[in-house]
Amino acid sequence: MLKDFSQILKEIDDDIHTLSQVELKQKYLSKSGVISKMFKELKEVPDKEKSEYGLKINQIKTLIEDNIKNRVEEKLEDKPLFKIDPTAPFDINSKKDKKPHILDLRGSSHPLMQELEKILDIFQRMGFNILESRQLDDDFHMFESLNFPKGHPARDMYDTFWTDDNFVLPAHTSTMQNRALRKFGPPPIRVVLPGRCFRNEATDASHEHTFYQIEGIYVDKDISFANMLATIKSYLEEYLEKELEIRVQPAYFPFTEPDAEFVISCPFCNKSGCSTCHYSGWIELMGCGMIHPNVLNSGGIDSQIYSGFAWGVGLDRLTAIKRGITDIRKLRDGDINFLRQF
Ligand code: DAH
Repeated sequence: MLKDFSQILKEIDDDIHTLSQVELKQKYLSKSGVISKMFKELKEVPDKEKSEYGLKINQIKTLIEDNIKNRVEEKLEDKPLFKIDPTAPFDINSKKDKKPHILDLRGSSHPLMQELEKILDIFQRMGFNILESRQLDDDFHMFESLNFPKGHPARDMYDTFWTDDNFVLPAHTSTMQNRALRKFGPPPIRVVLPGRCFRNEATDASHEHTFYQIEGIYVDKDISFANMLATIKSYLEEYLEKELEIRVQPAYFPFTEPDAEFVISCPFCNKSGCSTCHYSGWIELMGCGMIHPNVLNSGGIDSQIYSGFAWGVGLDRLTAIKRGITDIRKLRDGDINFLRQF
């Protein structure tokens, strides 16, 4: 009749990763919630076990309360990041304020979003789900869940921005791997995770502090490195509308084993050399690899049974290649004459 505590702890572990804070509060802390039911059961516990049982319930309660307190969502809801002033003095009809040209008012979708739609459409046709990443995250998703324990030197590869209360602007979309494994598991799992990323970079024509990535993960039984090469190649050939030669180079990421840099033959010059491929004939396009067992396990997937691959590709870079843009900073500086070309 009495609850088995290890079973409850396991259920809480799953819920913490899958339920929203409201759902978590409802399930555990509400009047009819799990904790208050457990306190009611306390009456039936033999006297000598009562104090230990009560202590355990309190520990569970604190665990849930702490988790809710530390959630990113909660902090954001409590504190709006900035206030919008709806009375800002701009009236489009007033003669005093300069009227924008009619063309400026018409607007169009941004080239990055146009390309993103095409890419997501390809993946949907290949049977992938889509889940957008978030623009503020925590240490667990940025590092711990991706096999970067505290103090691991590879954390330095991702120099990004932190808020005063220890949240992080994601430096890559891999931050979503843990959530995707939990949300779409048990396998088969096929999901692409587009989103905005931030890095503390000195900018130049091919580096920006703010950019988009598209992460992909595929997990099932007997998934191999060859499956990864074929999947990424098929998607790129469909997107670039060209047959490609591919090769892989060694790379290092803590969250994959083995890891690789995915390289394609230059779609513009067929390897004869041009400015897009810096006269090498090849373009290094993205990091990829077989998902590390620790990452699978931390996402609730049994790595003894399942394997999978993942990749992360830069949307700005793909857009620049596809649209012949020589300076990726143009994609962010809001120059209307540049944007009108698309
Ligand atoms: N997150 C890596 C980066 O931005 C790229 C990456 C490499 C993503 C390997 C992956 C992967 O999913 O398996 O540097």
